[in-house]
Amino acid sequence: MRIVLLGAPGSGKGTQSQRLVERAGIPQISSGDLLRAAVARGTELGRQAKAAMDDGRLVDDSLVLGMIRERLGEADARRGFILDGFPRNLAQAHALERLLESLKRPLDAVVQLEVDPAELVRRISGRRTCADCGRVFNVFGSAPAAQSEPCPKTGAPHRLMQRPDDTEATVAERLRVYEEKTRPLVDFYRARGLLRVIDAQGELDAVTRRLLQALGLPAARRVARKKRPAGRATRRAAPRPSASGARPARRSAAAKTAPRRKARRSSRPARGGKSGRARPARRRRSR
Ligand code: AP5
Ligand code: MG
Repeated sequence: MRIVLLGAPGSGKGTQSQRLVERAGIPQISSGDLLRAAVARGTELGRQAKAAMDDGRLVDDSLVLGMIRERLGEADARRGFILDGFPRNLAQAHALERLLESLKRPLDAVVQLEVDPAELVRRISGRRTCADCGRVFNVFGSAPAAQSEPCPKTGAPHRLMQRPDDTEATVAERLRVYEEKTRPLVDFYRARGLLRVIDAQGELDAVTRRLLQALGLPAARRVARKKRPAGRATRRAAPRPSASGARPARRSAAAKTAPRRKARRSSRPARGGKSGRARPARRRRSR
């Protein structure tokens, strides 16, 4: 699948991308992470990008586009990708569209993560990132987990750092830039029939479930299944149709290997409202 995650700073694009990487078997391509890596390595790109990043402004389109074009040309991106933080304005969206058209690999879906502004500020102020593996935590929630599990890169405890652009003044500017430059992409992708909108507030797992549902990917199994008697076929979770009513997402490589299951009532995807907002799955009444 080729996916774009849209959303304000702190909406959870990075966090949910990292979870989607495991589910969909495709790489996360984060323009912010690539730029931060370039700054840390002291490359020419990093040197040119640093001032804009420190101020919360967007880095020059020409720099970002060159970097993304190069990354999309790498072997792992041929299977698909999750773009996180790119595109960020209409010029970047048009450039991405042209690039993917020339590669004959158009986008499958764009998911907008909706979060209240006050919650965005709270999340950003509590964010900590592992300096070694890049995993995102939060002092108000997931940081304790970081102390109990080893970093997959070093085997030692995660080294939690605060991002230099997570200061109060920079966050205010990033949110302003988001409203002015990035918000218009919602209409851009809605007009192309690619947009799905999800409520990105609440428990991480609940947001992940909404995201998977919006993408038509199978939901994670929460409890271990009871052992079935020998000879009975094991049923695997089948991909759900998109809840937004937008065109159903293509099946991932992993999903293609799973047998399709007949839809219970109808083969049509559930309809969303005009906004394209994905509705939560209806609970079955327990008897
Ligand atoms: P970038 O790195 O893209 O930053 P951003 O867009 O400001 O987004 P964030 O990374 O801050 O937020 P996120 O949505 O990833 O949230 P996260 O998952 O971390 O860009 C940085 C800078 O680089 C830009 O300002 C710009 O200068 C430049 N740049 C980047 N791309 C560019 C481009 N295309 N063009 C030009 N310039 C570009 O979550 C945040 C926190 O919330 C975490 O602590 C997490 O644990 C927590 N959290 C997540 N979900 C939940 C939940 N459901 N409940 C509670 N807490 C949660
Ligand atoms: Mg991020």
